[in-house]
Amino acid sequence: MTSILSVVQPAAPVARRYYIETWGCQMNELDTQRMAGQLMVQGLLPTRDPREADVILLNSCSIREKAENKVYSRLGEYRRFKEDREHLLIGLCGCVAQQVGERALKRVPDLDFVLGPARVGELSEVLNRRRAGERVVATGFPAERSYDFDTISRDGLFKGMVTIIEGCNKRCTFCIVPSTRGPERCRSFEDILEEVQHLLDFGFVEIELLGQTVNHWKDPHQDLDFADLLDAVARLEGLKRLRFVTSYPRDFTLAMVEQFARHENLSPYLHLPVQAGSDSLLKRMGRGYTVGEYLPLVDALRKARPGIALSTDLIVGFPGETDEEFQATLDLVEQIRYASIFAFKYSPRPGTAAPRLKNQIDDDLASERLQILFQAQKKIQLELNSELLGQEIEVLVTGDSKQPGTQMGRTPCHRIVHFDTFGEPSKLGSLQQVEITDAKPHSLLGIRRGQTSANPSLLERPSVLPVLRG
Ligand code: SAH
Ligand code: F3S
Repeated sequence: MTSILSVVQPAAPVARRYYIETWGCQMNELDTQRMAGQLMVQGLLPTRDPREADVILLNSCSIREKAENKVYSRLGEYRRFKEDREHLLIGLCGCVAQQVGERALKRVPDLDFVLGPARVGELSEVLNRRRAGERVVATGFPAERSYDFDTISRDGLFKGMVTIIEGCNKRCTFCIVPSTRGPERCRSFEDILEEVQHLLDFGFVEIELLGQTVNHWKDPHQDLDFADLLDAVARLEGLKRLRFVTSYPRDFTLAMVEQFARHENLSPYLHLPVQAGSDSLLKRMGRGYTVGEYLPLVDALRKARPGIALSTDLIVGFPGETDEEFQATLDLVEQIRYASIFAFKYSPRPGTAAPRLKNQIDDDLASERLQILFQAQKKIQLELNSELLGQEIEVLVTGDSKQPGTQMGRTPCHRIVHFDTFGEPSKLGSLQQVEITDAKPHSLLGIRRGQTSANPSLLERPSVLPVLRG
């Protein structure tokens, strides 16, 4: 029998939900936050379960073939949800969207729209057009771009990412980015400072400046380069940690190096992709620098900021890579002693020059070389991390660790630390003094000793929307 209550009570309105899956680099991460912001302004809420979503977005990466294939298999999976949820809208976004455009609509019949990375700001409009019946393909690189920073759904409590330059004008022979992210476009000095200030006003303590070649930034109207920008941003009150990614070695000037000596809040951490350890390979990759030019840059950085942690990207199995060339890469890694490396097997990409080079490398050999590289690096990382044993280091608290009673965070040099809180968790985003008690290759363990900053303003941030991802 139906109770009176259930007869008179109106059905609760069901909130519409969105689900975004993100692959790839920090630029994609930020694009996801921008799309989430637009969806929330339209009244949608985030969900961790794609089966209950009304809008599903796949923010794809096409840097290697594997990443691209994953997106298609996911599309196949999600389109089946339409059997029960006819109104569900599925959009392909990110670099694969730009790369395949219209063809994606043919290949995946249930796909509703395609949105390239330079058109992220048009998501709301594209959704409205789709609801009116059109299957939209929004790709390409419009000359005008507005940085709508107050509708970004910032993920996390402490790190604010700020785009300063989009696209890439380099022509590394392996890389698809110039065709998926388009030509370089720099944002103005005033605009960047305004967004950073906006984030600091809301209590963010860490700022990460973003661009494919971030240090190639120049103001579009005045004679200001990346060193000037770093100097100005680092001076802003309340900024505890400033980082930037990704730097192109040839564009790194001494004036930029000097900023590391000048500003303590410029984190002692730098990602400086070298890709390979021999001049012959660097030449075939079209990187535009030699090992002999890269090494003095590393020395200058270490002189400016002793203890600076360096990380890098490396490619193994690039066409024609000889045993000697691979050995040179290993030697360079041993010589520089990076705090971490991101190493990949070469993957041929459409529209790039490298697939036409002679002597493509066998996949098994490339896998073997990758393993050798990882083994060598693991040993180096353990040694470098062990040097921090017994030190008290300031840690920015980022979340809970798996082990009950412990939290995790990052050192100024961006190493991960899991630390004991003695049952009293620290506030997320606060800075804590942690004594390092154990070192692993990929993380440090420690005990909390005290607090540097409570960061009280973190609790109230009305205009910065939260985001939930899967
Ligand atoms: N803008 C960055 C790189 C962007 S791509 C820079 O200046 O270096 C991120 C990394 O992916 C690259 O540094 C490279 O190591 C790797 N990568 C790019 N294309 C690749 C390919 N075709 N195969 C394997 N790795 C690749
Ligand atoms: Fe790619 Fe080289 Fe630009 S790696 S992003 S083409 S600097």
